[in-house]
Amino acid sequence: MRTLLIVGNWKMNKTASEAATFVGELSRHLSKPPTSVELVVAPPFTALESVRRVLGSESPIQLGAQNLFWETQGAYTGEISAPMLKDLGCRYVIIGHSERRTLFGERGDGIRRKIQAAFAHGLHPILCIGESLAQREAGSTNEVLSQQIHESLSSFTAETLASLTIAYEPIWAIGTGRSATTEQAVAAHQTIRAVLATTASPTIAERTKILYGGSVTTQNIAALLSSDQVDGALIGGACLDVTSFATIIQLASTTRSIGV
Ligand code: PGA
Repeated sequence: MRTLLIVGNWKMNKTASEAATFVGELSRHLSKPPTSVELVVAPPFTALESVRRVLGSESPIQLGAQNLFWETQGAYTGEISAPMLKDLGCRYVIIGHSERRTLFGERGDGIRRKIQAAFAHGLHPILCIGESLAQREAGSTNEVLSQQIHESLSSFTAETLASLTIAYEPIWAIGTGRSATTEQAVAAHQTIRAVLATTASPTIAERTKILYGGSVTTQNIAALLSSDQVDGALIGGACLDVTSFATIIQLASTTRSIGV
């Protein structure tokens, strides 16, 4: 049984001091954090240290980053490496988010190298994949998902892929208020699992957590998690408000523990 994973992707929001206040409040809201849900916050690089300091070493809230560069160190102005993230206490790293693909030109091979760097330094990569609206309307969603998995994951052994998480994030659902339906998410997750079974192994396909992302809110989280094909959520806008993020976490734990 895969445990649920809820990840808050803060994107380019909150200064280091705002971030510290936010996680302090979040921790108070979750005074009895759910045991059935794994929690991650992914603040901007500049807030990782202040968030870590507030959370301390005992917090159930883990730290993630939103990106990394594949080299370990060197003349790469403006970049951040996996060992730097590891040193700040990061456990997870989001890789290949559609905003990075569309705004910063990230592509298959670069994404593969980033995933390789994460694995090499003991970070759990969360690979984001998803189709555009035009691709969905052209009926090529499955093909797009399959291609994105192949180009970024096919060079890894099944053993290496054991710590991978995938986030299915249809581009048309990100930040638009138009979430995929549960049926659309489940269908995409089934496709992803089938592709993983052939590119990695049936065991990896069974074990890999597949999160849904794209306009997740307190209103739709329970429905999205009602299928055991959806192993959690990658949340943007709704994770920036303490009450809304804490409510999503509570709903997630209730949904799964009563097996709706
Ligand atoms: P959203 O973003 O929840 O604001 O749609 C999700 C994401 O980009 O990961």
